[in-house]
Amino acid sequence: MNDLEIDMNLERDRPWHRLIARRPHFAWTAMEGLCFEGVPLASIAATQGTPTWVYGATTLRQRLNLLQTMFADAEIQPAIRYAVKANDHLAILSLLRIGGAGADVTSAGEYARAAAAGIEAAAMVYSGVGKRSDEIATAIEAGIGQFNVESGEELAMISALASARNRTVPIALRVNPDIAAGGHDKISTGRAGDKFGIAFDQAAGLYRYAENLPGIRPVGFSTHIGSQIFSIAPFEAAYGRIVALIDALNAEGTPVTGLDLGGGFGIPYDDGIGFPLPAYAAMVRRVIGDRTLDLTIEPGRWLVAPAGLLLARVTLTKASDAAHFSVLDAGMNDLLRPALYGATHGIVPVDAVAATAPALPSEVVGPVCESSDRFGTYDLPRLAPGALVAILDAGAYGANMSNTFNGRPLAAQVLIDQERSHLIRMRQSVSDLWRGEIVPIR
Ligand code: LLP
Repeated sequence: MNDLEIDMNLERDRPWHRLIARRPHFAWTAMEGLCFEGVPLASIAATQGTPTWVYGATTLRQRLNLLQTMFADAEIQPAIRYAVKANDHLAILSLLRIGGAGADVTSAGEYARAAAAGIEAAAMVYSGVGKRSDEIATAIEAGIGQFNVESGEELAMISALASARNRTVPIALRVNPDIAAGGHDKISTGRAGDKFGIAFDQAAGLYRYAENLPGIRPVGFSTHIGSQIFSIAPFEAAYGRIVALIDALNAEGTPVTGLDLGGGFGIPYDDGIGFPLPAYAAMVRRVIGDRTLDLTIEPGRWLVAPAGLLLARVTLTKASDAAHFSVLDAGMNDLLRPALYGATHGIVPVDAVAATAPALPSEVVGPVCESSDRFGTYDLPRLAPGALVAILDAGAYGANMSNTFNGRPLAAQVLIDQERSHLIRMRQSVSDLWRGEIVPIR
């Protein structure tokens, strides 16, 4: 702690203090309030306005590094194919590319973004339950590293499109292992009734069939059982089933060389502890045993969520007998997760004096005309209109799930690198809102 950092020891019970205590790149200073990677958030609000997404390059680099180290410690080296859907900003993709990650893309748009960020097509896997033929063709022509195939029809499409181009593309079959991962219902993907993947009992047959199709080279299986998962057990169950499948195929002389383990590693949005990655890596090592398999992982949230926040301002407050409301200038059009999944994100005051005030329950809501535009009930200091708050862990599934509902332009985005902040996406202007609209009426 340096001289200017506020001694929060006296306020250890404050929920916002507990949140920040677990996030090493944050600290309040007496003069400048809450800083992220050494930059006062108030200075970003002063220059860029609010709401603004703020990302930390150091946090992101460190997380990628930590991920690589934890797998290396377990003596496995999966190829990291970052799930672009979590945050597709070119600067984020570039940082991850430099750190050694490839990409997991799920549309022509994500492929093009990853390519624009300099990620080689060969370092990409292409996932998605509804790939269009034009998207498949583009990816084949670019030399995509692997398609994760989700149906027999898709397999036939890829085979036809690749052989028409005299190409042979690596494919993995995405298996639905019929495992309930225990995460939120809306982000579970590996149960038999979910739309994702190939039913487990069809996977071996389809793999054998794929062996004889032109234009494709089956290299293995992939799976992705859901997102924001904390327990190792569902992963272990899913991988165990797939490894048994691999053994059976290898035993009959059908070679299987790769396993894409998917993503889904949870992060604590509160002051709890995170996903047990070392135990996960050790479990993967154990399940793989002495088999030689090329491993891949597709993490999204775990890498980027803690590297981002949404900076917002209290527009006004109001109280009734029922509740005290803090109405922010950020809403569900910016951060959709609370409305869509009932998700909560830590919310902390930016002002240093506020940070020492007593905690009182507050309904934190946005300005959008929907009752679900509500971040949740938080114990916060009584914030005056104009006060800034940081909504934490908003680096994943934040900015790129935003929309302009209620005529609210997309927020600005800022990246902090080496204690300097860079505008990486201009705030949308109001006239941008109708760009592209055509009025065929005189
Ligand atoms: N691989 C595939 C095939 C996926 O569908 C996903 C996420 C990932 C990897 C990355 O999962 P992660 O490591 O980020 O959990 N919008 C939701 C999350 C949806 C996840 C969709 N698929 C949310 O905000 O919680």
